Amino acid sequence: MSTAAIAINGAISVGAYLMTVRMIPRLREMFIKANLCGKDLCKKDKPQVPESYGVIIGCVFLISMFLFIPIPFAFDEAAAMDAVTGGKPVTFPHNKFVELIAALLSICCMIFLGFADDVLDLRWRHKLLLPTIATLPLLMVYYVNYNSTTVMMPNFARSLFGTSVNIGMLYYIFMGSLAVFCTNAINILAGINGLEVGQSLIIAASVLLFNLIELSLGHQVESHQFSLYFMIPFFATSLALWKFNRYPSQVFVGDTYCYFAGMSFAVVGILGHFSKTLLLFFLPQILNFLYSTPQLFHFVPCPRHRLPKYDAKADLLHISTTEFRMKELNSLGRLMVTVLRVLRLISWQEQADGRVITNNFTLINFVLVVFGPVHERVATQMLMGFQVLCTLLALFIRYPLANFFYAI
Ligand code: UD1
Ligand code: MG
Repeated sequence: MSTAAIAINGAISVGAYLMTVRMIPRLREMFIKANLCGKDLCKKDKPQVPESYGVIIGCVFLISMFLFIPIPFAFDEAAAMDAVTGGKPVTFPHNKFVELIAALLSICCMIFLGFADDVLDLRWRHKLLLPTIATLPLLMVYYVNYNSTTVMMPNFARSLFGTSVNIGMLYYIFMGSLAVFCTNAINILAGINGLEVGQSLIIAASVLLFNLIELSLGHQVESHQFSLYFMIPFFATSLALWKFNRYPSQVFVGDTYCYFAGMSFAVVGILGHFSKTLLLFFLPQILNFLYSTPQLFHFVPCPRHRLPKYDAKADLLHISTTEFRMKELNSLGRLMVTVLRVLRLISWQEQADGRVITNNFTLINFVLVVFGPVHERVATQMLMGFQVLCTLLALFIRYPLANFFYAI
């Protein structure tokens, strides 16, 4: 393991943090002038807050990574200089180099597409298409470098399928979908101050912890080192953004940041070969997505904003609601809301005229259904606390439980 490269990456990241912390307040006017603003909907006077700061964070991240590109190769033993060849590298690791460049290309592409989304307010079908396109360079480099599409089978399935199964093309579809999921999942668990960055920081910290554990065990050293190279500057720049995005937000992150964060996670998950473990760290986002499906796929009416409703008098957040008549829903929609109602996962108010009023199906609203109206800061803290609990659960599943299911 090249500790020198990681140390330099850490030093660059500290520089990136300090630079970002200085840049964010200075650029506020520029964003406001360019009309890149959004209303903070959970405040008394709904102030205009500069939006799309993800583009700044993404740029600082890219600059940090561009500066870092030569470092791993300078310290790579395979690239050791040979006196006989006149100081030229004997075997330059082209595969590693192209992996780094393709990963940066995918992230860069996602930042650009995310910014386009912020400026042009794209439709939902584009939001699904954009990450798929941005992930193509990544899948190509995976194909050229590894093309390993076999999945290990758990013990109980080995008598049927054998130790491992080659799922071929399906593996690429899974990786493409992972990028689409990671980017959009962060974007739809959003709407209260600090939540987008807060969840991304916890996921990044979880990935970093996982990489360090694996490195200490000597497992797949190169893959986890590769992940550290991306996650350290990502964590540093996001921490700087968190300073200004947490309650009360001075800046908003925009879809640019959500896409940038999601793609960074997808990149390290795919090229670091731990996509399944990565998904474990996305447990709250998976729950939010599953809970949201009736609205996302329009079985139940979905308003433009599903963030909680602000009660200015008490300075508290209440659930935001959606309205429908049962007979207006198709049979699948009716089944979905009935199951959610029976399981007491949604609030339910039936009016005399047959209209039904329920909360919007998001994890934020669910927290409010369970714990009642809370302050915005508290709602963010609760969701971040849940994210941390999920990381602990993920590590439990990944280590003690996985050893049980995958014992060789
Ligand atoms: C997603 C959600 C939407 C949610 C929105 C909030 C789905 C399908 N879409 O849409 O329900 O309302 O995110 O980000 O679940 N805002 C605040 N306070 C915050 C953060 C954002 O008031 O702390 C508001 C601001 O007006 C900001 C806007 O949300 O301008 C950003 O919304 P945008 O990112 O464009 O929404 P989507 O990602 O499309
Ligand atoms: Mg958004």
